[in-house]
Amino acid sequence: MTAQLIDGNALSKKLRGEVAARAAALTAKGLKPGLAVVLVGDNPASQVYVRNKVKACEEAGLHSVLEKYDASLTEAELLARVEALNQDPSIHGILVQLPLPAHIDAHKVIEAIAPEKDVDGFHVASAGALMVGQEGFKPCTPYGCMKMLEFIGYDTRGKHAVVIGRSNIVGKPMAMLLLQANATVTVCHSATPDLAHFTRQADIVVAAVGKRNVLTADMVKPGAVVLDVGMNRTEDGKLCGDVDFAGVSQVAGWITPVPGGVGPMTITMLLVNTMESAERAAAARG
Ligand code: GUN
Repeated sequence: MTAQLIDGNALSKKLRGEVAARAAALTAKGLKPGLAVVLVGDNPASQVYVRNKVKACEEAGLHSVLEKYDASLTEAELLARVEALNQDPSIHGILVQLPLPAHIDAHKVIEAIAPEKDVDGFHVASAGALMVGQEGFKPCTPYGCMKMLEFIGYDTRGKHAVVIGRSNIVGKPMAMLLLQANATVTVCHSATPDLAHFTRQADIVVAAVGKRNVLTADMVKPGAVVLDVGMNRTEDGKLCGDVDFAGVSQVAGWITPVPGGVGPMTITMLLVNTMESAERAAAARG
């Protein structure tokens, strides 16, 4: 079997078009949605990510501010900047790019973001809301994965989903979202003794480890949906995911490519969350 591709670029284009229309409508009412992106230090990957986030905002007609600071910025200075953005009425979403330099406590900084502006969905209030099924911002990457399943018309009810990885950013919220969508969910991780035992039973596999070839063809049930969250490089510098794409695409029913799969969806859902935040601010303003 040759898997069908789930095109993250095509879905992103559609969803970003919808955001642009909503942004234009809100701007016409005098409220332009705004995102602040804060980058501390000179991590090269982070620099690319934040540039892409700001560019995506501009293309969708959102206001964006990029605040770049030297790696020597103190934790207190960063907390003060976050507080200023919390108070800024032109900003509806605040994103502090991770990782932060080692002398800054990332948890403390994330908890300083006002939950109503936490468009990354990393605040404990957002994580808690997701856990108990209350309204809150969903982390962008797992939210994007759910949108991809919706896009292909996949009904998750009663299906077995295996999530590989247990990070706060992807694995854990992904499991919660799948559970909320009535899937039976197994979370596997680095201490799981026989990963293939679980993935072979899966109707949906989400690979979010950050290591090449975590999932190979022999580990996949024919026809399964495979979502590859990984972002790695081959020896010759080519971008690749966690999944052995060449092999797995011969067995799976659906698969996301890298690049052009989950990656663009992460930024798209950031725009969606920022838009949602601005609309809530407009509703509160009356
Ligand atoms: N670092 C890698 N991915 C992300 C993300 O989605 N948000 C933030 N804030 N930092 C990241």
